[in-house]
Amino acid sequence: MSIFDGELKISVSSASGIEAITKRELKSLGYGDIPSYNGRMNFIGSMEDVARCNMFLRTANRVRIILAEFKAETFDELFDGIYSVDFGEILPFDANVAVEAKSVKSKLFALSAIQSVVKKAIVKKMTAKNGLVSLPESGERYSFELSLVEDTATLSLDTSGDGLHKRGYRQKVWIAPMRETMAAAIILNSFYRADRVLIDPFCGSGTIPIEAALIATNTAPGINRNFAFEKFYNAPDVLSRVRQEAEDKAVRDISLRIYGYDIDARAIKLSYEHAERAGVKNLVHFEKRDMRDVTSRYAHGIIITNPPYGERLSGGEELKNLYRDFGKMFRSLDEWSAYVVGTSPAFEKYFGQKADKKRKLYNSEIECTLYQFFGAPPKKRDDNLTE
Ligand SMILES: C[S@@+](CC[C@H](N)C(=O)[O-])C[C@H]1O[C@@H](n2cnc3c(N)ncnc32)[C@H](O)[C@@H]1O
Repeated sequence: MSIFDGELKISVSSASGIEAITKRELKSLGYGDIPSYNGRMNFIGSMEDVARCNMFLRTANRVRIILAEFKAETFDELFDGIYSVDFGEILPFDANVAVEAKSVKSKLFALSAIQSVVKKAIVKKMTAKNGLVSLPESGERYSFELSLVEDTATLSLDTSGDGLHKRGYRQKVWIAPMRETMAAAIILNSFYRADRVLIDPFCGSGTIPIEAALIATNTAPGINRNFAFEKFYNAPDVLSRVRQEAEDKAVRDISLRIYGYDIDARAIKLSYEHAERAGVKNLVHFEKRDMRDVTSRYAHGIIITNPPYGERLSGGEELKNLYRDFGKMFRSLDEWSAYVVGTSPAFEKYFGQKADKKRKLYNSEIECTLYQFFGAPPKKRDDNLTE
């Protein structure tokens, strides 16, 4: 019997600005209305729920298991609180223990000192339990997070491993790529549905079109990757049930109208490589094309994109012209909607249109704005064609 067989306090984290979308995802996975506090959504569940959250949540950063919560205003209180956890039920004797610390509005704030006290308490408990002088730390990695918020310490164990934005399909780097979790959040928050048209005119490495195809085919974002919990919890049944659920939910027999364009041929090659790895190569169309030449025969559709950006827009004529021409291209497309991620406060000025709605987002810690321009929603699929 291990703690992993019983009830667990599960904590799902997501990036600032997209928690509401993660909450919606949790609800549609059957976990009800879970309140969000500081980007964390906590609820009681089982190891199967840990596996499902890791497998199915498109917009979450990480899934953790909370092991202890206690008041800690001194290092002694911190040590004692950690020492009271029964690590013998959680860790093998050779676990490679890593600790990350965070502190907000707390008396203990020196992160490296917090980290080392937490690690010392874990090691002391483990050596006492196993009758050892020191831990070999030669085994699997176990990553803990100690977060202090207003003097309340929370110790949690990571179950995801690599951040959940790493779906496994994007292995090569492109200029300013969008996080997969962020792309999924924007798509889930847009009018895009599997029977609608989507264009990314600045597709780069293909993240937005690929995430849209994964959503449209109901393909679990974690289907092609591994998770930390697999290594340290012997749960072949749990994982195979969840992988089977993912297989059963995926829609294979479908045709989509998802298009990605980029001026750089290397980006198009990369997009196809990534789409192939994601299993959606035949469902998306990528093509080398200048955004200025993008047209569509459909009256309704959705643009979701992050155009190039620069720090000094005021000095960048090229960027201003690009945004101006992008605005013109957008307005040439009948009743389309656009969701544009930008970092420049002057974006709307050059784009030539005020956004109907704006939302602050963080793409890999960079603050940006999602500009939303709404067209009329289509009545039914056939109405989409202008011909
Ligand atoms: C910020 S990146 C997009 C990153 C992408 N969302 C991803 O996740 O990889 C902007 C892209 O715009 C492309 N680009 C620049 N000028 C363009 C133009 N006139 N027409 C089409 N693409 C252009 C660049 O080659 C670059 O790939």
